[in-house]
Amino acid sequence: MKRIALLLVLVKLVVVTHAQHPIDPYHYTIQKTFRGKNGAVVSAHPLASQVGVMILKKGGNAVDAAIATQLALAVVYPNAGNIGGGGFFVGHLKEGKNITIDYREKAPGKAHRDMYLKQDGSPDLEKSQNGHLAAGVPGTVAGLFASHKFARLPFKTLIQPAIDLAEKGFVITQAEANALNARKAIFEKYSTRPTAFVRDIPWKGGDTLVQKELAQTLIRIRDKGQKGFYEGETARMIVEEMQRGNGIISYDDLKAYQAVERTPSTFKYKEYDLVTMPLPSSGGVLLPMMMKMTERFPLSSYGYMSPKAVQLMVEIERLAYADRAKYLGDEDFYKVPVKQLLSDKYITERLKLYQSDTAGNSTLIHEGVVEGESEETTHLSVLDKDGNAVSVTTTLNNSYGSFTVVGGAGFILNDEMDDFSVKPGVPNMYGAVGGEANAIAPGKRMLSSMTPTIVLKGGKPYIVVGTPGGTTITTNVYMTLMNLLEFNLSAYDAVNKPRFHMQWLPDQVDIEKNFPEELKAALEKMGYKTRIRGAFGRTELIKVLPDGTMEAVGDMRGDDAAEGW
Ligand code: GLY
Repeated sequence: MKRIALLLVLVKLVVVTHAQHPIDPYHYTIQKTFRGKNGAVVSAHPLASQVGVMILKKGGNAVDAAIATQLALAVVYPNAGNIGGGGFFVGHLKEGKNITIDYREKAPGKAHRDMYLKQDGSPDLEKSQNGHLAAGVPGTVAGLFASHKFARLPFKTLIQPAIDLAEKGFVITQAEANALNARKAIFEKYSTRPTAFVRDIPWKGGDTLVQKELAQTLIRIRDKGQKGFYEGETARMIVEEMQRGNGIISYDDLKAYQAVERTPSTFKYKEYDLVTMPLPSSGGVLLPMMMKMTERFPLSSYGYMSPKAVQLMVEIERLAYADRAKYLGDEDFYKVPVKQLLSDKYITERLKLYQSDTAGNSTLIHEGVVEGESEETTHLSVLDKDGNAVSVTTTLNNSYGSFTVVGGAGFILNDEMDDFSVKPGVPNMYGAVGGEANAIAPGKRMLSSMTPTIVLKGGKPYIVVGTPGGTTITTNVYMTLMNLLEFNLSAYDAVNKPRFHMQWLPDQVDIEKNFPEELKAALEKMGYKTRIRGAFGRTELIKVLPDGTMEAVGDMRGDDAAEGW
């Protein structure tokens, strides 16, 4: 087991040790890998992963643990953990049932197609990305209650650890302190009331972050259920915050919000069965499309990170993302030709555009003809001893969302409206372009890249995986799966080795800093433009070994932690 000790300053002598919640939020370490047989939880924060394991130990199943972990993340990982955002739940229950729950944010009733265009028709991305107008109607709390139908323990039990963490506080890491300090001015700009995240002196690793107002909001949710968020005092506070900051989310928008159980996107890759999130996740179309294309080639024989393998994967990504821009959006509002896009015939046609050994060109490659994200999102993977698996990705969109903290309620609102196409052809914060399919309309869900995924082998959970990272999410999941299923990398390497990403436009291959120099040179020789960028994605992986041991890995790129028992 790899453990990274945190240099934590002891700021409180009080340790939460009462039997119900034996988690110490003032002293903890980040455990990157875990192996065991009883259950595993991997998330963006060690305390949240510990909360999940504690719930498993109390007799909860993977769904209970996923709910409690998400609620804990809403407290200890304000960058992306949330109750003011949205997410996707992918589950496989031990009886064999696959479930997907959509709690993506929705455009408010007063939203309209051109709401982010200035008088001269140019896009106002400041408004779609920051502040009150950037926020979609939050879906997370509705999603947690919709998931609870598949859980075992009372909701009150699952939310209590989050309430305690908010009420009593927890020690922040240096990374969290740096992130909060860097956002002080923007929080002040877009929040109309004092917030727990801003203080006069800079934050440092080891300080305690206490969120009393958030604790009260969580208590209202505990006591009143979904109505504790979408109606009554919390809803009133959201609406008042909107009025102070010229936002448009109304009381009726909140009251009307419903999470939706959708038909999972399922497909076969060789002997594996994959379960992932359908639209409005673009991943539910792009991941099967990319894997169906890949299956036509002997990828593993090309060798891990060989120029031939990377060139093929990059070109497959280019072809898939060209279709994303044209065809994908909320199916409740726009007819998306999913069946055609995933048909063998269409895959064959698309692959006719593939040329080996040379860079493709995104100005020549467009969508096919069919008949008829700073990037802060967060992922958690959970597997319990009975074979229930849960893969959940949730988001505020940007790190700390819109930077608008709901006055009196203590939580951050998302800036998910930027995931719509604010104007055809205008890139969003991830450089992704879109058109009619993803245009803004009242009540519509914006297209997402979140791709929580479960791989089954012989009908049993084999891999539980997902990641944040805006448009790199789907390619990261694809790459991690290829690392495991084709190149036989260890779980640790599959998560932590350098990554690459191509999304059609811009026409370039994004690579991480530690991407091998000689491979970069080989790609450039074939005609590719490469761009080195900061780490992308933070993959949370659980893989089941042949003897049934669960191997869990939290990404080295952040404070991510794997826990279990
Ligand atoms: N906000 C990132 C995504 O949903 O793709």
